[in-house]
Amino acid sequence: MIRFLIVFLLLPMVSIFLHGQNIDFSKKSLALDKPLTTIAFGSCNNQKKDQGYWANIADENPDLWIWSGDIVYADTEDMRVKADEYQKLKVNPDYQKFLGQVPVIGIYDDHDYGVNDACKTYPKRAQSRDLLLDFLDVPAEQPVRTREGAYQSYTIGPDSQRVKIILLDTRYFRDELEKNPAKGGQRFLQNKQGDVLGYDQWKWLERELKDSDAGVHIIVTSIQLIPKEHYFEKWSNFPAARHKFFRMLSKIKPTCPILISGDRHIAEISMVELPDMDFPLYEVTSSGLTHARTEKKEEPNQFRVGDLMPKLNYGVLRIDWSTEIPSVTAEIKGIESDLLQECQLD
Ligand SMILES: [Fe+2]
Repeated sequence: MIRFLIVFLLLPMVSIFLHGQNIDFSKKSLALDKPLTTIAFGSCNNQKKDQGYWANIADENPDLWIWSGDIVYADTEDMRVKADEYQKLKVNPDYQKFLGQVPVIGIYDDHDYGVNDACKTYPKRAQSRDLLLDFLDVPAEQPVRTREGAYQSYTIGPDSQRVKIILLDTRYFRDELEKNPAKGGQRFLQNKQGDVLGYDQWKWLERELKDSDAGVHIIVTSIQLIPKEHYFEKWSNFPAARHKFFRMLSKIKPTCPILISGDRHIAEISMVELPDMDFPLYEVTSSGLTHARTEKKEEPNQFRVGDLMPKLNYGVLRIDWSTEIPSVTAEIKGIESDLLQECQLD
């Protein structure tokens, strides 16, 4: 009887302890105590197009999938329509199967957050954020549920094999951009003092980086951060914010920082050497899953490493924990899992 009572009393404690080691998304838990070795990611997914590619990504056996924005195309201020578009993807049998195999986290970009190139002025931003978190089955106890915006962080892995994933919200607090009236130039005029993240998110980011003992830091930004020359939206439209981001990294010096971005309907890898940093800063851009540029139009990018890839694609990061400083390899894969580019990020 006493033995029965002890088991009866201990069981809930054991389950609370185990629960603390996982984040329970609806179909697949994310184990926080297991090292990540394979992380897949991608963006720009039209929910009305064929989703058959999920099986190819599942065959990579990723420990985690990260959405880097434009999860669905739902440009509207009608939240019922937006919810319906998310739901189309959520119930798709190919995506459903994937959700049962791989834990999924992520952040929106413009077409899922609001409308094309949307920013803080999008009138339904609070409702839109809730739709994203509901779509991702982010549990109620996650800190993101108690603040404005959709920025999140996840720290995964045991002591010496820890990865911190920081998902930046580049929409909810982003200042406005003015269209460039001149033909042949960039789409937008620079907003020289304009901001991308907003005060609270900057403070949060600084703390997340300062307080981290992770061996790898993956920072997800839906729009590209390093490339400067192309026509479309990018951090470089906000030069003060881009500079502030670089200064913050140079000051805090996080171990092995890697940027992931999407949005562009091409894939490319960029790299910049920042002052005082022990590591070069790489940005792996992967876009899109269902639609991408098809012709190879030249596009200058002084920071590009390797080729511009105008093809349907997803990205994979492979982490080798056997060395003292982890070594990370980035792969850009075609949607049929063909290797388009491989790059060691060190
Ligand atoms: Fe986008």
